[in-house]
Amino acid sequence: MHQPTTQPTEPQFKAKYGIDAPGVIRNLFFGGIAFAAIPIFFPLVKIGNVDIDTHGLYWSAGGCALGGVLMLLYSLFGKFKHRDRMLRLAGEWAGDEQVLDVGTGRGLLMIGAAKKLTTGKATGIDIWNAEDLSGNNVQHAMNNIIAEGVYAKTEILNENAMNMSFADNSFDVILTNQVIHNIYNKEGRKKACLEIARVLKPGGVAVISDFRHMKEYKKTFDELGLETRMHPADYLTTFPALDILLVHK
Ligand SMILES: C[S@@+](CC[C@H](N)C(=O)[O-])C[C@H]1O[C@@H](n2cnc3c(N)ncnc32)[C@H](O)[C@@H]1O
Repeated sequence: MHQPTTQPTEPQFKAKYGIDAPGVIRNLFFGGIAFAAIPIFFPLVKIGNVDIDTHGLYWSAGGCALGGVLMLLYSLFGKFKHRDRMLRLAGEWAGDEQVLDVGTGRGLLMIGAAKKLTTGKATGIDIWNAEDLSGNNVQHAMNNIIAEGVYAKTEILNENAMNMSFADNSFDVILTNQVIHNIYNKEGRKKACLEIARVLKPGGVAVISDFRHMKEYKKTFDELGLETRMHPADYLTTFPALDILLVHK
């Protein structure tokens, strides 16, 4: 385990947390344009003896564009409200907690938690998949912790959620947002949940947020005998809708 020794590349006064799933947003906008173009250029498509009116594709175009806009709004505004909700759901903060942010990306949850700490420490782990978040790399996470003034209370590590190096019972609070679904097989997602349960201290809380597979995660924690509670998504601030699972050990 080590803390990367990277330093910020440029003086930066405002942290930037990136756009989530930028490729998906781009595809939704391209899809919208493609669906809208068909009725403009080919209002009637003839297949055999059948004339097909393509104007209905405007609905598909609108759906794609709306999806792209809502995802963008989440990245630009909603995710900060969602972060605050997750931190509130973690319970009362004493300031001395050991916190882990699994899949920290550019540090959204890690930095939010660090601001609540006095003697505690927030650790962020990630493997920095480029497609999951724009500008997703350790340097941008480092720039953000410096810009937000929490360098002394944070640590950034290159670690996989499925195989963490931490000792059992290491963290009082574990946070993870939009991460575990990026593990594309069920067994891997289960491994990540088992790792979270392993490194969570007895008496600690994990706040797990994602837009799919949430019942699967809950089942894994339930089977371990941990106390779980699902909180439905706030549809005004998250898109895709992000449910939150609270796990108490
Ligand atoms: C959509 S981003 C969310 C980042 C951050 N949690 C946030 O809310 O801003 C998903 C993050 O999960 C990370 N990730 C994906 N699979 C991972 C794994 N197996 N272990 C650790 N991090 C992972 C990606 O690199 C990416 O930074």
